[in-house]
Amino acid sequence: MTLLDGKLLSENIKSEMAAEVVQILARGGKTPHLAAVLVGENAASQVYVSSKIRSCEQVGFKSSLIRRPAETSEAELLDIVRQLNEDPDVDGFIVQLPLPKHINEENIVLAIDPKKDVDGFHPVNFGRMAQGLSAFLPATPMGIVEILRRYNIPTAGKHCVVVGRSNIVGTPISILLSRKGYPGDCTVTLTHSRTADLPAEVRRADIIVAAIGIPNFIKADWVKPGAVVIDVGINRIDDPSKKSGSRIVGDVDFDAVAPLCSYITPVPGGVGLMTVTALLMNTLKACKGEVYTRI
Ligand code: GUN
Repeated sequence: MTLLDGKLLSENIKSEMAAEVVQILARGGKTPHLAAVLVGENAASQVYVSSKIRSCEQVGFKSSLIRRPAETSEAELLDIVRQLNEDPDVDGFIVQLPLPKHINEENIVLAIDPKKDVDGFHPVNFGRMAQGLSAFLPATPMGIVEILRRYNIPTAGKHCVVVGRSNIVGTPISILLSRKGYPGDCTVTLTHSRTADLPAEVRRADIIVAAIGIPNFIKADWVKPGAVVIDVGINRIDDPSKKSGSRIVGDVDFDAVAPLCSYITPVPGGVGLMTVTALLMNTLKACKGEVYTRI
């Protein structure tokens, strides 16, 4: 069994990006610039956004954090989005979700210029991805694809079973892995809470992508020996043996499943770290004008 080391990969990719930024600047190009909008005091969102800003510093990007209180109106947030769309110095930006209840997230995402949508959440980017056109891919599926690519894991003709059908992970990764080319050319089964006999479906998988958000959900007797296991889960569970009283586990019962696999991502240290790195990769692409080349 080989651990798919998201920490090592993300450090390698960040070094490559940092070197590229140096080259861009030496040629007289502009510093890539990511802006993040954070509304309210959601604790997890604050951690995620700080990590995104810190990662920008590591690779030499400029970053801007726009913080607003939870009472911010939808109209005020739409105005911030409009200003970021129009700001020529900002290559890409994200509005951290979830937003306070009184703000309609769909309205906000639809207001983002797809050319600056480095989260890949806008339906234009989703549609372009689904059609195999160049697009900003959502960060988590993009991180998964990058793990498969950098570990040279064969995908053509493999049966991939995705567990969970969210708009930002399960559904897009099922599309990406079924697309022509590498990593792709998989036969994909997208499973969810209404799937009949889920263990039987998962047992057929050469590649399992677990993105259901339930701790230790995928059991050892669901896993075909030799399978590749990608665990997207980030679940906090009680653990009295820890000083903090809790720890983070994935959607896969790691201790029981790992000995059976050919490859597996640990949690933490797997997909999660690649997600922030993928956002930076999208920002660099936005800065270089690589995604929207024809319009
Ligand atoms: N909330 C949880 N994950 C994400 C993400 O990738 N992007 C944004 N904007 N919000 C999130």
